[in-house]
Amino acid sequence: MSVNKEIKRVTTHILQEMKNHGEKIAMLTAYDYSMAAIVDAAGMDIILVGDSASNVMAGHETTLPITLDQMIYHASSVVRAAKRALVIVDLPFGSYQGNSKEALNSAIRIMKEAGAHGVKIEGGVEIAESVTRILTAGIPVMGHLGLTPQSIYKFGTYTVRAKEEAEAQKLREDALKLQELGCFGIVLEKIPAQLAKEVTESVHIPIIGIGAGRHCDGQVLVLHDVLGINKEFKPRFLRQYANLYDVMNDAIKNYIGDVKSKDFPNEKEQY
Ligand code: KIV
Repeated sequence: MSVNKEIKRVTTHILQEMKNHGEKIAMLTAYDYSMAAIVDAAGMDIILVGDSASNVMAGHETTLPITLDQMIYHASSVVRAAKRALVIVDLPFGSYQGNSKEALNSAIRIMKEAGAHGVKIEGGVEIAESVTRILTAGIPVMGHLGLTPQSIYKFGTYTVRAKEEAEAQKLREDALKLQELGCFGIVLEKIPAQLAKEVTESVHIPIIGIGAGRHCDGQVLVLHDVLGINKEFKPRFLRQYANLYDVMNDAIKNYIGDVKSKDFPNEKEQY
């Protein structure tokens, strides 16, 4: 029987039960009211207001430029739409690295001003103090290990992480540390499937993968990639479920054509 059936609101406790019962967790990003309403109505477990908004909504090359105020704007729109999903919001670059007080203040702003249900934060042992402080305030925290896009200028590329044993071992230790601190779950991005399997089996909290193989407790993708709105971005880990770029392009071209040809509006479409 499904744990996640006819529930009013997905909670971190329900996610834990899902892992315990072997029921996979579905997570997808959303950044605005209209899209979030569709994602929520479809039955999504977690909606992530990811800092990928910096790329897909604002057109930046990296996730670094998006600000805390901008994340709060996106998150508040998503929260208004989400009736069932748990809404988790990324702490953006520069809003938590200074010290744990800064991290706590940023998390509090996300909870208070956007009405979010929890935050996600990139990093392992080096952010332990911040994670603890946020958790102490009663704010659910999700970790994020592997490819952490806010560190892109340290990595230099978006290729698969933790292929070497030293990095893989640090990731194992980071996952255990985040669990010990009290995180309710961890996103593992772009790491070998075998390592993700090991981590998923070694912790009791839910592990959500993106480019981390099939053995994770759940999967997350970026909404615009799933819907085929971005034509250029087609990494191996992505399964594209629609081709909305072409659908939208055709619709918009048809509208332009109808306006130019004076077909729109017709008699029935006017007062
Ligand atoms: O910002 C984001 O969309 C993310 C996912 C890719 C996990 O962090």
